[in-house]
Amino acid sequence: MKLASVEEYLKRALEGEAIAAVKYFAFAIRAEEEGNAEAAEAFRTIMMQELWHARKILEMLGEIEDTRKNLGKAIAGERAESTDYYPNAALQARDEGNEEAIDLFEYLAATEKAHMKDFEILLKKMEKR
Ligand SMILES: [Fe+2]
Ligand SMILES: [Fe+2]
Repeated sequence: MKLASVEEYLKRALEGEAIAAVKYFAFAIRAEEEGNAEAAEAFRTIMMQELWHARKILEMLGEIEDTRKNLGKAIAGERAESTDYYPNAALQARDEGNEEAIDLFEYLAATEKAHMKDFEILLKKMEKR
């Protein structure tokens, strides 16, 4: 694959590393369910390495700031997910009559809202200091 800039390679790499980490997390759980502790441990160890790769890439992209700013970004992201993305996804699932997807999207909307609130409480605490 040929991309036009280092920034594009970094952005694509971030997606690849993040998705690999999530897959290895899920594969580790599956391996545990199958009683394969050795495979589970390998998936978890390499999952953590992929997360460290992703962290380094995020740093190179300039996306890691001080905690006050990071909390602000996290709140914005959780807000967009809980008030826009997942509610719209749930409506679409309703249109399609996909009960499993309705339940998932509603659950995600609710938990992202809880994440948003937790981060907001932390940010408010920081601002009082
Ligand atoms: Fe990696
Ligand atoms: Fe979240």
